[in-house]
Amino acid sequence: MGKTIAIHDLRRGRAPAGASVLAPGADRLDTFARPLRDLRISVTDRCNFRCSYCMPKEVFDSRHVFLPHAELLSFEEITRLARLFADAGVRKLRLTGGEPLLRKNIEHLVALLAALRTPDGRPLDITLTTNGSLLARKAAALKAAGLGRLTVSLDAIDDAVFRRMNDVGFAVEDVLGGIDAALAAGFGPVKVNMVVKKGTNDDQVVPLARALHARYGNAAVLRFIEFMDVGSTNGWRLDDVLPSRAVLERLREIGPLTALPASAAGETAQRWRFDATGQEIGLVSSVTQAFCGDCNRARLSTDGQLYLCLFATHGHDLRALLRGGAEDRAIAGAIDQLWAARDDRYSALRTAATPGVDAGPAQAGERRVEMHYIGG
Ligand code: GTP
Ligand code: 5AD
Ligand code: SF4
Ligand code: SF4
Repeated sequence: MGKTIAIHDLRRGRAPAGASVLAPGADRLDTFARPLRDLRISVTDRCNFRCSYCMPKEVFDSRHVFLPHAELLSFEEITRLARLFADAGVRKLRLTGGEPLLRKNIEHLVALLAALRTPDGRPLDITLTTNGSLLARKAAALKAAGLGRLTVSLDAIDDAVFRRMNDVGFAVEDVLGGIDAALAAGFGPVKVNMVVKKGTNDDQVVPLARALHARYGNAAVLRFIEFMDVGSTNGWRLDDVLPSRAVLERLREIGPLTALPASAAGETAQRWRFDATGQEIGLVSSVTQAFCGDCNRARLSTDGQLYLCLFATHGHDLRALLRGGAEDRAIAGAIDQLWAARDDRYSALRTAATPGVDAGPAQAGERRVEMHYIGG
């Protein structure tokens, strides 16, 4: 049964007016004193996979309306915004989608972003999350364009389980071929993200950890992600979540692990290392141990809406400013005001609420934004 959801019809908030009063480089703090450091940029709302936890086939079928090209931010528009975000404190840019490698000439965007500098003259940390399907073809060009790091999604090592999860019959070996190409191109270590869904792929936790170590040694860092209640189409239930502590218990079958200190403030993953081999793994526990407390992430949707939380119900229209001829200082002012007013901490509130089937505190009648549209 197909249902058409015009995701881009979600309510848009107009961005506030007024020039920036803060100097480039000065920290912008939100209402919980969290600085702005990380901008995730969705470059397309399309994907060639149909992972049930993100773009279930029944919803994102041939009747689904994706954004027409004119609605997407151009590479120049994205780069201009990224420069203004860097002035406002952003140090890391993550290109996402949908599947970012489906955006034509994505390496040109990478080259434009790689040329940006922070107010004190440093390059930004530029990274990209991909499903790996086009990586074998693109890895060398991305590296040459200046991409710093890569994260590849892979939910199983068993081919049948993986094909079921991506729901388009894509083979594990082809994703592994993409990781091979990335390492050969000079990326490394590559992060590998596995979303764990109880009853679907939770039997893959140990086999995937073993297989990646056998093939890549410590050049692949596997991260286990709790299935999240993001969006409103993936049929999330708390029962489908395998808590990170259970993942860790299973990993102890391989051998003892030791916790590692956080490598950066606001990090999503808790890092662990196998004592015997040095293999590092990460646990992203957004459901059972929310990490909103130091969340420094903002998200730019494919069509230029700024979202201040993954679970936000509406964005703020930066594209209208760009296309309305606003000067840099007006756009910078809008960014500053939006960040200063930010009070989002969705996952923390949901964790604090009594766990139940309810997907959490979105207001009645409001629909949360979908992850393929604002990026992971
Ligand atoms: P690194 O700099 O490489 O460590 O990146 P990262 O951990 O910030 O990035 P990544 O996009 O790989 O994040 C891993 C997963 O964590 C995502 O796929 C999401 O499932 C989840 N995640 C990322 N950011 C947030 C967030 O702000 N809130 C919540 N609730 N989950 C997030
Ligand atoms: N829960 C957790 N992670 C998700 N992702 C997408 N949907 C979900 C979800 N419901 C993340 C995965 C994937 C990335 C592109 O987005 O980490 O690797
Ligand atoms: Fe595509 Fe990634 Fe979403 Fe899967 S999780 S449907 S690969 S955007
Ligand atoms: Fe940040 Fe919102 Fe995720 Fe909390 S739920 S970590 S505030 S994006």
